[in-house]
Amino acid sequence: MAGSSVLAIDAGTTGVTAVVVGDDGRVLGKGYQEFAQHFPHPGWVEHAPEEIWQATLEATREVLTKVDQSQLKAVGITNQRETVLLWDRETLGSPRRAIVWQDRRTADICQRLRDEGHEERVTELTGLRLDPYFSGTKLAWIAEHEPRTWDLVEEGRYAAGTVDSYLVARMTRGTWHVTDASNASRTLLFDLERGDWSDELCELFGVPRDALPDVVPSWGEIGMTDPASFCGLDLPVAGILGDQQSALFGQTCFDVGDSKCTYGTGSFILTNTGPSIERSDAGLLSTAAWRAPDGTMTYANEGAIFVTGAAVQWLRDGLQIVGSAAETAAIAATVDDTEGVVFVPALTGLGAPHWDPHARGLIIGITRGTTRGHIVRATLEAIAFEVRDVLDTMPATPSAERPLRVDGGAAANDLLCQIQADQIGAPVERPEVVETTALGAAFTAGLGVGVWDSTDQLRETWTLDRRFEPDPDARESADAGHRRWAEAVERSKGWAQV
Ligand code: G3P
Repeated sequence: MAGSSVLAIDAGTTGVTAVVVGDDGRVLGKGYQEFAQHFPHPGWVEHAPEEIWQATLEATREVLTKVDQSQLKAVGITNQRETVLLWDRETLGSPRRAIVWQDRRTADICQRLRDEGHEERVTELTGLRLDPYFSGTKLAWIAEHEPRTWDLVEEGRYAAGTVDSYLVARMTRGTWHVTDASNASRTLLFDLERGDWSDELCELFGVPRDALPDVVPSWGEIGMTDPASFCGLDLPVAGILGDQQSALFGQTCFDVGDSKCTYGTGSFILTNTGPSIERSDAGLLSTAAWRAPDGTMTYANEGAIFVTGAAVQWLRDGLQIVGSAAETAAIAATVDDTEGVVFVPALTGLGAPHWDPHARGLIIGITRGTTRGHIVRATLEAIAFEVRDVLDTMPATPSAERPLRVDGGAAANDLLCQIQADQIGAPVERPEVVETTALGAAFTAGLGVGVWDSTDQLRETWTLDRRFEPDPDARESADAGHRRWAEAVERSKGWAQV
């Protein structure tokens, strides 16, 4: 459909981005609105649902001032995953704040379930692990600690869901209560093989199945926006994907073995495994990538690293040795190497492939000659080491023929991309559009209404900005650095329990 465009809403952890994408895959306009992070106790992270919604409206209003609204054909949604919300089906108001994916309050519930011997079965059904990261134990926590609220969930007055289903409810004035398979697969309540909610898991976590949304395909006819609720827009909601799966889609990683890495607060590496669920005993998750309207499922392996960009934020806000993330490349380039300094940014424990909630950050190898250049360079190296650790456990590793596609904020950092290529010994490719997450949502919505006919057509819109080749002369020092890193990671483990 020439001259058409699609609105993509990317509801991330710190803010909402609204992007309009044209039928040539170019970004035509963008709006952004941050919302507040609430930390009511150490280790707890919450968001006010109404603030997420208001940020969505604000970002949308902003982008609508920059584009021709009459060309818009559909809306696509992508979102921070695992975060759970409750809302009143009538008023759409929420009785409590959302519990965010980063929230660690359910570590004890996870341990209890593990002690009771449930982990193996949970992993078999969901492809995930018993970790506070996922939604299931967050809902179990509300049931346990807020029984009056939970009664209304049981009675059917309150709906439960992830951020995508909440946004669909708000955009459609409560007409649709839906989610897609990629989001459902992050809840610990979804049977990955059958592609539907699991009664067994709903019972284990004490979640009434009726409180959960219907699972719909990731693109197609999903719902219609209510103009009075959503910026005057009367458009089909035609695409939904969790943000990391959306980045995989936006990078057009449609073939088995295609991988992408998104550098955000954390970093998430996903490899397309096609129609088969690949199980990993090396710390990777098995997850739904997307479900096509004909019901065909595509799966992925995922390595979820919790702290990468957040380590740079800590350099800026905690240590205060950089003024902005953008400065890090120049500061790190003031030194040739870290002179043996290693930073393990296990600031909230370690995710993939180590999964140690008790690990804590460490900086080791400091001498009197250590400068902020060494520490900043060690931080960039840490990001690349973490990604290498995950890729080393992947069944299909990047190669010259199949490079690692990178995106997200830190992908703009040339030095990081080069260190990454040297670490993995394979090329790293950065596309022109690094807002791949929003692009994925636009692609699904556009496919849903026929702006694009096929994924082949989408592939043609992907354009390379720069390819970083691994430097053969750097191989030896890259491996030596990685060996030091591996040693330091071991020292960081279990530190919170010492
Ligand atoms: O699993 C968490 C992930 O979805 C968070 O994404 O975009 O908020 O970094 P983001």
